[in-house]
Amino acid sequence: MERQIPEWLNEAWESTVRKTVRISERIGSGFPHASVGGTYVLEEPHWWTAGFWPGLLWLVYEECADERLRKLAEQCEERLDAVLHDYTRLDHDLGFMWTLTSIASYKLTQSAESRRRALQAANYLAGRFNLKGRYIRAWNPWREGEDNAGLAIIDCCMNMPLLHWASRTSGDPRYSHIAQAHMETVLEHFIRPDGSVYHIVQFDPSTGACVGKLGGQGYAPESAWSRGTAWALYGLTLAYHHTGERKYIDAAKRVAHYFLSQLPEDSVPYWDFRIPPEVTKYRDSSAGACAASGLLLLAEKTGELEAATYHKAGVRILESLYRNYGTWDDHTEEGLIKHGTSHYPEGKNIDVPLIYGDYYFVEGLVRLRGGRTMFWE
Ligand code: GLY
Repeated sequence: MERQIPEWLNEAWESTVRKTVRISERIGSGFPHASVGGTYVLEEPHWWTAGFWPGLLWLVYEECADERLRKLAEQCEERLDAVLHDYTRLDHDLGFMWTLTSIASYKLTQSAESRRRALQAANYLAGRFNLKGRYIRAWNPWREGEDNAGLAIIDCCMNMPLLHWASRTSGDPRYSHIAQAHMETVLEHFIRPDGSVYHIVQFDPSTGACVGKLGGQGYAPESAWSRGTAWALYGLTLAYHHTGERKYIDAAKRVAHYFLSQLPEDSVPYWDFRIPPEVTKYRDSSAGACAASGLLLLAEKTGELEAATYHKAGVRILESLYRNYGTWDDHTEEGLIKHGTSHYPEGKNIDVPLIYGDYYFVEGLVRLRGGRTMFWE
C-alpha cells in the first residue's frame, strides 16, 4: 500500500543518528540498560539487555554507513563470546541477545563467524524446550535451591525468531518445530480472551501440567503488564510472519486491540494497564516503542482494509515518543526516550530511559523509512 511519509520522520531520524553517534563515544562497546541520572549504567555482558545497544548501532549503521558504529557493534558481539562459551549464564534471552548481534551482523555483513555464533545460540535455546509442557524454560536457578524449571514467560515470544532463522539457515526444521510448539502453548495459556496477557505461567516440569500464573513484572497475576502485552503483540505477529499460520495473526490482532484500547491521551502506555488507583501510573515508554514497531509489521501482514488501523496506531505512538519523550537536545541525558519502567514490583529502574525503549523506537523509525533489513524476520 502506498504510504505518505510523515513530516516529522526525517527530523526524528536525523536527531537519532546525531545522538547515537554522540553517546557512542562514551558507551563504546559497553552494554547499557537503564539511564540513571542521565548516564546509561553499563551491565555485565550476560544481562538480557546486551543485544539492544549493538542492535541499535547496526540499525543506524545500515542507513548512515558510519564504520565506527559497525566496529563497536562487532566488538559487542565479540565480548558476548565469553557468555556463549561459559554457558552457565545463558537463559531464554539468548534470542534477544544473539538476534540483535550475530543475526544482525550476518544479515548486514555475511560474516561466517556471526552465523556460527547465532546457530550455537539457537542450539542452546532449543535445548531449553520442555517436551511435556511444550514450553521454553525461562531461567536457570540463579540462587541456591531456586526451582524455576517450570516457568515460562511471555517475553520469550520475541526469542522465537532466532529458532526460525536457524531452521532457515541450516535447512533443519527442528528449530522451527520447537518455536511453533512454544507459541501454541502461548496461545493456550498466556493470551486471555480479552487480549491481555499473563507474564509468567508455571508448569509442572515433569508432567507438563499448567499449575499457575504469576504476576512477574506486572502488578499482579491477573493484571496486564504493558511491556508483556507488547512482547505478545510483536511476537505473535512474528510467529505469523515465520509460519503463515492464521491463528497467530488472529491472536496478534486481539492483543493489539486490547493494547490500543488501554492507551492514554498521548498514546504511550502506563507500565500496567490494570492497577488500582493508589498505585502510581508511571509510563513505560519501552512498551509503547516495542508495540509501535510490532504494529507496523502487523499492518504489513494484514489486508488493505485493515492495515491502516495498525499502521496509524504505530505512527501515532512513535510520533508521540519523538515529540513528548525524546531527549534530542538534552546533552545531560544519554537515553533517547524518557519514562520507561523496567521492573516496578522490584522498584528497579522506574521512570527512566531504557535501552530496549531506545532500540524499538529506532527500529520503528527504520520501518517507517522503509528500512530493508529487519533482524527478527
Ligand atoms: N523480562 C524482560 C523485560 O523486562 O521485559
